[in-house]
Amino acid sequence: MARSSTTKLAAAVLLPVLVLLRPAAAAAAVSAHLRVHMHDVTGGASPTSERLLNGPTAGSSFGNTQVIDDALTDAASSAEVGRAQGFYMVASTAGLEFLVTMNVVLTAGPYNGSSLAVLGRDDVAVAVRELSVVGGTGQFRMARGYVLWRTITPEILDLEIFVNPPSSSS
Ligand SMILES: *[C@@H]1O[C@H](CO)[C@@H](O)[C@H](O)[C@H]1NC(C)=O
Repeated sequence: MARSSTTKLAAAVLLPVLVLLRPAAAAAAVSAHLRVHMHDVTGGASPTSERLLNGPTAGSSFGNTQVIDDALTDAASSAEVGRAQGFYMVASTAGLEFLVTMNVVLTAGPYNGSSLAVLGRDDVAVAVRELSVVGGTGQFRMARGYVLWRTITPEILDLEIFVNPPSSSS
């Protein structure tokens, strides 16, 4: 009887401690669904997308690389919510298939100050491309996810970004 009450006491003391420790060990990831337009302005007075490198072979676009600091606007409200900063390179000898490497830097809205690292393949011949969200900072620290990428006009891309989607099994 004494032993049983000692066990109960130990459980009463230890269980709340274990429950308190748990959230730190398994912090819930922020899930987000963002839909933005990326303005890849390659000409005019203030381009945000400029040729950084020309590929090695004349007459071929293979290796051509563009550095970008493109405005991102909310697809619904058109308000600027951030920038897409990075580069994309033609990584195919056959066509316009880009390797995209960029940070999605959010500067307004609920995720202001957070960022996402996006890496992936953009084959412009495909209507909807899928790129990877490989990480993030701030509210998006340790993020995983994907981007559905569509062309609206040659200089406006539609990006639907799924961050830590609830269906993700990882
Ligand atoms: C975003 O956050 C920065 C830094 O906290 C702040 O200065 C800025 O006003 C915020 N922008 C918007 C649009 O909320």
